[in-house]
Amino acid sequence: MTASIDQRASFEAVRYAQAWEDADVLLGAFHKRPGQRFLSICAAGDNVLALLLLDPREVVAADLSDAQIACLRLRMAAVRVLPHDAFLELFGARPSSRRAALLNEVLVACDPDTRAFWQALEPQVAEFGAGNVGKFENYFRLFRRYVLPLIHTRATVENVFEKRDRAARVRFFEERWNNRRWNLCTSLFFSRTVMGWLGRDPAFFDHVEGSAGAHVRNKVRFAAVDQDPSENPYMRTVLTGRSAAVLPTAWREETYRAIVDRVDRISVVKGPVQRAADGPFDGFNLSDIFEYMSVDETAQIYAELFAQAAPGARFVYWNMMAPRTAPSSLAGSIARLSDLEAELKQIDKAFFYADLIVEEKTP
Ligand SMILES: C[S@@+](CC[C@H](N)C(=O)[O-])C[C@H]1O[C@@H](n2cnc3c(N)ncnc32)[C@H](O)[C@@H]1O
Repeated sequence: MTASIDQRASFEAVRYAQAWEDADVLLGAFHKRPGQRFLSICAAGDNVLALLLLDPREVVAADLSDAQIACLRLRMAAVRVLPHDAFLELFGARPSSRRAALLNEVLVACDPDTRAFWQALEPQVAEFGAGNVGKFENYFRLFRRYVLPLIHTRATVENVFEKRDRAARVRFFEERWNNRRWNLCTSLFFSRTVMGWLGRDPAFFDHVEGSAGAHVRNKVRFAAVDQDPSENPYMRTVLTGRSAAVLPTAWREETYRAIVDRVDRISVVKGPVQRAADGPFDGFNLSDIFEYMSVDETAQIYAELFAQAAPGARFVYWNMMAPRTAPSSLAGSIARLSDLEAELKQIDKAFFYADLIVEEKTP
């Protein structure tokens, strides 16, 4: 007997409908040779697609969540069915009045579970795009609708994305952006209480120096002044809801063809990443999963992954606030690539993470 719809994944919510980790950084962290085998957290699926740009033999994508797996499966069908422009419309990077039709066109090429899952979300996809229907994107939508207008006018927000040199960015930031309302609202929005309501464990903040609000303000300053915000798709999406001309790695026109050609190299597995498939793997894209675990659990899961690592394999992951690294039990067998981390952090446009970790199994 087939499972009824409500016994399947259909009512589980999407948390991340697009990647909030910068795949330019991810690709920069791995070896560049073709033919590698990767184990990746699935999340929304964008960075699984991005890994195809390294011309791997296989990318095994794993996730605990059926909803997140449905996000990847929709992308895999979409790249097979849609031209690039239509892909951007469907996922919400471009305005569109035909998203429902595009969705239905793609769903014909999907398995029944994926089809049922996305059919239930058709109204939201039509309104916001399939890359904007997660809880995380909804949280940003609330921020844009109710908090941001208390801080800045629409014109000031749009102005952030004008091309400027560094000196002009410093002036814009200090004179237009960094006002008392910005400080007050970020302190309130990122307080322990509000973040607790939004589902973050208050223990996360134990590791942040100063307040979480101050941490966020520093990160925004880095992305708005030291980097060029006009080139930042994540900041643009958070502040305006759309990434317009600048796009994340897997959504760019120049990467689309290679992704279409290689999409069959992805294997999708539901379940914990450390049990997804037998090694050896040359690279591990672990998102920020360790932050959601205790230090002891991190050590255990890391060791299980390490047992599946080929000599020279790289482990890449982010920490938003809680510090996590390879366990000390592996100290002699794994090296942290601090110079590469430092270089990549300079270009990391997903500005909200406190740390990027790149570790390599000693050959
Ligand atoms: C850790 S979350 C973070 C998302 C992220 N920061 C982003 O930008 O999209 C990414 C995904 O990891 C999945 N996940 C967490 N722990 C996992 C595990 N041990 N095995 C497999 N998937 C896991 C979650 O279901 C979620 O879809």
